[in-house]
Amino acid sequence: MEVVITRDADAAAEVVASVVARAIRDRPAPVIGLATGSSPLGAYRRLIERYEAGELTAAHASAVLLDEYVGLPADHPEAYRAFIRREFVDLIDLPTERLFGPDVTSDDLPDACRRYDRLIADLGGVDVQLLGIGGDGHIGFNEPGSSLASRTRIKTLTDTTRSDNARFFEDDEYDVPRHVVTQGLGTILEARHLLMIATGDGKAEPIARAVEGPLAAMCPASVLQLHPHATVVVDDAAAAGLQLADYYREAYAHKPDWQSL
Ligand code: F6R
Repeated sequence: MEVVITRDADAAAEVVASVVARAIRDRPAPVIGLATGSSPLGAYRRLIERYEAGELTAAHASAVLLDEYVGLPADHPEAYRAFIRREFVDLIDLPTERLFGPDVTSDDLPDACRRYDRLIADLGGVDVQLLGIGGDGHIGFNEPGSSLASRTRIKTLTDTTRSDNARFFEDDEYDVPRHVVTQGLGTILEARHLLMIATGDGKAEPIARAVEGPLAAMCPASVLQLHPHATVVVDDAAAAGLQLADYYREAYAHKPDWQSL
């Protein structure tokens, strides 16, 4: 795992945007895994700016959602498909018909979950998977206790996550859906590059557990330790709990030119 520590959230967003832009530019049919929530928004804005400046096209790309609420009307602004279209996909030239998510309106949700894993495989797998981290260490909506080998499936959100996400629902956690469909930890691990972004002091504790704690279902993000190509981009505040922060800074400062992120 590589840990990149930046001075602030803007610089973290720039690092993440550069990695995604490179994947989109270098591959003939890139598949980008998109997370929602606040953490990746700065990186999405930078990618939009590159598109507007004529420096980036995503016309040949596909995107897959990491997770989705169950039970929201399809046109609800906080449904993750609507959120990601509004904040990113509709603002670049990625074709809307190549934005994929699990079919949470299906009468047979377990089958819809299996179909979503097959769809991702049929696309050739995810090239770069963007990830945020929850206060309880979740990635996607794999809450603590999730199997490290899990596939896309239905999960029940913890009260902590529903309260964290209440800010998107006019601060009323009772409006935050209880159920979601999320890519499983095993599904996420199949992406070729995992790219996590976390900023602010509220993320210091879960980042320390994920990066330097034991590999454990109690901290689902610790599963990144199993991946051969995982990059964790954090600002100084989110890096505050890392024991090896000085080493990560030094390693990044002296990164050989031939070794990209
Ligand atoms: C969103 C997702 C979640 C968030 C996490 C952090 O698609 O999968 O795991 O990344 O809850 O949320 P923010 O970035 O809002 O702090």
